[in-house]
Amino acid sequence: MAVVLGIETSCDETGVGIVSDGRLLGAALASSMEEHARFGGVVPEIAARAHLESLVPCVRAAFQQAGIGPSEIDAVAVTSGPGLATALQTGLAAAKAYALAWDRPLYGVHHLAGHVAADTLENGPLPSRSVALIVSGGHTSLLLLGDLARDPVVHLGDTRDDAAGEAFDKVARLLGLAYPGGPAVAEAARDGDPGAVVFPRAMLGAGYDFSFSGLKSAVARHVERAGSTLAVPDVAASFQEAVADVLTRKAVEACLAHGVDTLVIVGGVAANRRLRDLAAERCRTAGLTLRIPPPSLCTDNGAMIAAVGDLLVASGAPPSSRHLAADPSAPLNRAHL
Ligand SMILES: Nc1ncnc2c1ncn2[C@@H]1O[C@H](COP(=O)(O)OP(=O)(O)OP(=O)(O)O)[C@@H](O)[C@H]1O
Ligand SMILES: [Mg+2]
Repeated sequence: MAVVLGIETSCDETGVGIVSDGRLLGAALASSMEEHARFGGVVPEIAARAHLESLVPCVRAAFQQAGIGPSEIDAVAVTSGPGLATALQTGLAAAKAYALAWDRPLYGVHHLAGHVAADTLENGPLPSRSVALIVSGGHTSLLLLGDLARDPVVHLGDTRDDAAGEAFDKVARLLGLAYPGGPAVAEAARDGDPGAVVFPRAMLGAGYDFSFSGLKSAVARHVERAGSTLAVPDVAASFQEAVADVLTRKAVEACLAHGVDTLVIVGGVAANRRLRDLAAERCRTAGLTLRIPPPSLCTDNGAMIAAVGDLLVASGAPPSSRHLAADPSAPLNRAHL
């Protein structure tokens, strides 16, 4: 069985993972999130410098956890897109250097395919057909999947404007909550009434595309109108309910319409408790199998990239060129770049 080292640096998390035959052997993660907090969003140059500082220590830590050394690595996988250009380049340069120094093949991996593959580390191989809902900081997509390593990815729907995670981050700002917004909104929502404010459910019954900017504007208008009477927990809970409602409704509809019995929900927003619970409830009712990775594998990490590399090696995919370049806006058509 091949042992694959994976490197992820597309945003503000430096992730390294070592995977063999669908099993996670070791992983390490460093984050520059706190350095960006005062800017309210990720600053690319700060993220790139942090990757440079964290990469080698993370690789060493992953090796230590796995109890193996570089000579046991058979292939190197790396996120080559999409993401922040300077951040991607740092990880790509490191991956190329390791591949060259160890004389091992290099596999460029699509970051979002990594989010999907994260689930296989917890729940085993994906069935031959599945629907994936990717809900992250930069993307919201409903996908029809076959063999992740071999088949093209079919987009059933995508967001027309803000991503779900982006909506959480922007609403957190409107409510005066901390960055990153997802966990902060979820925390505030715990004491709130999800039925307190009826926020719009955009594009229900209109295919599988999403739109969250109208919801964000509705929250902004509500905050402005409420003034000093603003009940943050109620607004947070009502907003979270609107997002979870639309996401799960469309995902379940997509499975039923395409005769697929398995729904996989991945990406940072998949860490959201309410989304997980509502998805479980609706999948149970519809007779669907729901797969969601544990929260630690929902947000960016290196194990998910190693997981894609592991699938590519197992499927006999040819390595990427040593001239592989970072592609900040790589479309998700295949896992292999
Ligand atoms: N518990 C939660 N509830 C809701 N949203 C959450 C939660 N935890 C994290 N998020 C959101 O997930 C996003 C981060 O997820 P992820 O790391 O997958 O995104 P990203 O890597 O920045 O984006 P992309 O994968 O699209 O490039 C942020 O927008 C964050 O607010
Ligand atoms: Mg991500």
